[in-house]
Amino acid sequence: MADKIERDELVKMLAALPNSGSCMATYGPPANYQNITVFRGGDGAWVPLGMTRPQADNRRIRTVQTHKTSANRMPTKEKNMIKLPEPTFDGSKVSEAIAKRRSIRQYDGHALDEQTIANLCYFSAGITDKERGFCANPTACNCHQIDLYIATDKYCAKYIPAEHALDIIEEGDFRAEMAIQPFAKEASVQFIYVINAKSFEKFPGNPDHKVKYGYTDSAIMATNTCLYATSIGLGSVMRGMFDPALVAPRLHIPAEDEIVLTVSVG
Ligand SMILES: Cc1cc2nc3c(=O)[nH]c(=O)nc-3n(C[C@H](O)[C@H](O)[C@H](O)COP(=O)(O)O)c2cc1C
Repeated sequence: MADKIERDELVKMLAALPNSGSCMATYGPPANYQNITVFRGGDGAWVPLGMTRPQADNRRIRTVQTHKTSANRMPTKEKNMIKLPEPTFDGSKVSEAIAKRRSIRQYDGHALDEQTIANLCYFSAGITDKERGFCANPTACNCHQIDLYIATDKYCAKYIPAEHALDIIEEGDFRAEMAIQPFAKEASVQFIYVINAKSFEKFPGNPDHKVKYGYTDSAIMATNTCLYATSIGLGSVMRGMFDPALVAPRLHIPAEDEIVLTVSVG
């Protein structure tokens, strides 16, 4: 806008800005520009957004650009960043599991004991508040839209949260049918997340949001599985790569239900 204007002149231009706006000034020779950006918030206060280093008073301003912004709009993120302190772990298992979790693609197929399977199911989808019927996994309107199925070396089953029990669908080892990628066939247990169409019959929300909530709720349950697996030293990987034509008949999944995601654990 202006070349070689004095600092006083910049101050005047800033004063002329409306209650909300920003001003970017460039100092110094072209090879060594230094920028000052300030933003005037809706409350009229000036917030320095980026000043490369303190400017000598005798420096000349080469260019000035001013921008008006609406009263409650903040400037772009990169110009208005707060550098956060490094995370603290404080011995919390959850923060540890979140930080440690990685997709693992190498398994030895060893069988998991019943307690470990029970815990994996419970912390994925179990009822954690029996009185009020709330679960480990939040679901839209608490409609419990997602059914959890598992395939182990011994059976395929559906987890029944109300009973904390496994409803055995078929005896036998069908894990390979649940996997396309070779590594997944070696995992101890396959977890399968299925949208239960019937559960939406009592869904009080906007019916247009069924699909969105079905996918979201599956991802939340699968995340529970992965984080709990990590917390007990097991590997896990989410897998969108599966063949519903193989998985659905083996698990006797109703035609109206939709398999969304699988997780291999081992
Ligand atoms: C919805 C979803 C589907 C995925 N599907 C597969 C899959 O089919 N096969 C696979 O090897 N990894 C799959 N992944 C794992 C991602 O590749 C992995 O999360 C990503 O590379 C980041 O690595 P990290 O999980 O170790 O942080 C999937 C992840 C998500 C969230």
